[in-house]
Amino acid sequence: METRYTDQPEEAAAWLRAGELVAFPTETVYGLGADAFNPDALGRIFLAKERPADNPLIVHLAHRDQLDAVVSALPATAIVLMEAFFPGPLTLVLPRHPRLPTVVSAGLPTVGIRMPQHPVAQAFLHACHTPVAAPSANRSGRPSPTTWQAVRADLDGRIACILTGPPTAVGLESTVVDCTGRIPLVLRTGAIALEQLQAVWPETRLATAPDELRRSPGTRHRHYAPRALVRLVDHPGDAQPGATHAWIGLDVPDAPGFGLVQPCDSVADYARRLFDFFRRCDAAGIAVIFCQRVPTEGLGLALMDRLARATLR
Ligand code: TXA
Ligand code: MG
Repeated sequence: METRYTDQPEEAAAWLRAGELVAFPTETVYGLGADAFNPDALGRIFLAKERPADNPLIVHLAHRDQLDAVVSALPATAIVLMEAFFPGPLTLVLPRHPRLPTVVSAGLPTVGIRMPQHPVAQAFLHACHTPVAAPSANRSGRPSPTTWQAVRADLDGRIACILTGPPTAVGLESTVVDCTGRIPLVLRTGAIALEQLQAVWPETRLATAPDELRRSPGTRHRHYAPRALVRLVDHPGDAQPGATHAWIGLDVPDAPGFGLVQPCDSVADYARRLFDFFRRCDAAGIAVIFCQRVPTEGLGLALMDRLARATLR
């Protein structure tokens, strides 16, 4: 299949309405969209990404009027969190509308809902005139794409259209919060920090118990990993220089001799650069990537989660 590249949201939306797959930018990472009410197109998302069928998709909305078509109830927790963070990088897990195709949520009775704030994403979603189911636009297991060129590297020839935009501003995925229980449970840390959620709903906490984690199928799968080995260290001095060794962190090694070095001037900058750096390391034939740990507060919690997952083989 020939993949078309366009910077026109209307043109990209026309492909989606015709039943095709379209990658598009959001403030977190690029998504791979299909009409949430077209089971055939939804099935092709799993094929294009080589995604396990038990991993549900997030449904993206242009505006609140689309909620009634995709969820069957709106708990008080969800109303408060939506008021505070929609549009934005937050996904809420809610009771699923019975008419939504079951493949969207991998057979679960719930559905993840998100309303992006990125202007190109909003223009695209408005032009689609239907809720858009979209996972991150990477091949399964690869780092999420933060540029349209990363989408091209993973999906060119497999999807109808890539809506090109600037590199994503956040660089990590949305925070996923389960709102089907008494208190909001964070199933995946992400762009909205736990502290921000707790400022709005103080009882909000991380899912930790095994039955809570089972509600979060995505976190069972290997994720976010480059081909290179990832090693976490506290200080640049703990990393060994070498032509096939790379470094990313808030500090910079004194020692010369690293193949690639990426200094970051804040945790947010580190988060924005991480996945693209992983891809650059793979392209450069790097064998070991040394990543500096950051404190697990604010966005640092999600950054450390992604770094820890990237070390898993
Ligand atoms: O920032 C993001 O969230 C990006 C952009 C494109 O919106 N999307 C994204 O999608 O990261 P994906 O499919 O790569 O990750 C979705 C995560 C997975 O961990 C999945 O298991 C979880 O959300 N999820 C989706 N629906 C769920 C549900 N009904 N119950 C529990 N977890 C769900
Ligand atoms: Mg993903």
